[in-house]
Amino acid sequence: MSAPLSLAVLVSGRGSNLRALLDAIEAGTCAARVDTVVADRANAPALELARTRGVFTQVIAAQAFAERSAWDAELAASLAARRPDLVVLAGFMRLLGSAVLARFPRRILNIHPALLPAFPGVDAPAQAIRARVCVSGCTVHVVDAGVDTGPVLAQAVVPVLPSDDARALHARIQQIEHRLLPAVVHAIAIGKIALDPEPRFLGAEPSELGSLVSPPLW
Ligand code: GRF
Repeated sequence: MSAPLSLAVLVSGRGSNLRALLDAIEAGTCAARVDTVVADRANAPALELARTRGVFTQVIAAQAFAERSAWDAELAASLAARRPDLVVLAGFMRLLGSAVLARFPRRILNIHPALLPAFPGVDAPAQAIRARVCVSGCTVHVVDAGVDTGPVLAQAVVPVLPSDDARALHARIQQIEHRLLPAVVHAIAIGKIALDPEPRFLGAEPSELGSLVSPPLW
């Protein structure tokens, strides 16, 4: 891989992380370009954002396929045709199947709104509130076949305040997601994070990357 990295971004929802990536690229702080945005639903607001920013978009809706494996195969083929360096899940609400995973080994990243391995799966901020933890945050990790189980690349931390509900906590987490995701993509682009043969840090310690993007706690 050589910078700028070509990205395929998979979305299901609002697309604030997609916007953060596009903004960082435009600002010159993330050595990448978003080649394509793929949504699993036609009404994902992130699609409109991508179109207004001039990015090629595709909708590959699972409901359009009789079998989940057929959806997975179509997604793998469509992504492969764009030849991205990285596939980035930015609020993509479906588990990828074996065809996509096999086509992009160690090349798929996900951003999750909790400090994995705590609170995997859906509603991570609500899980954190229910567990009455004092800190939470976000994680960028490599995707494997499990639910939010792949190798962690970077994390950033926020406090959980006594007055927080899940919505307030998620909003605070999203602020650091928008810094962490472009920072990790950039670190991969410039060789500070290697993905082969196993994900590992080269030029930066994990704590260095973390302190770069984590706001002070109090
Ligand atoms: C983010 O909180 C991300 O961590 C989770 O889904 C949310 C997507 O938000 N996987 P957005 O669509 O990027 O605004």
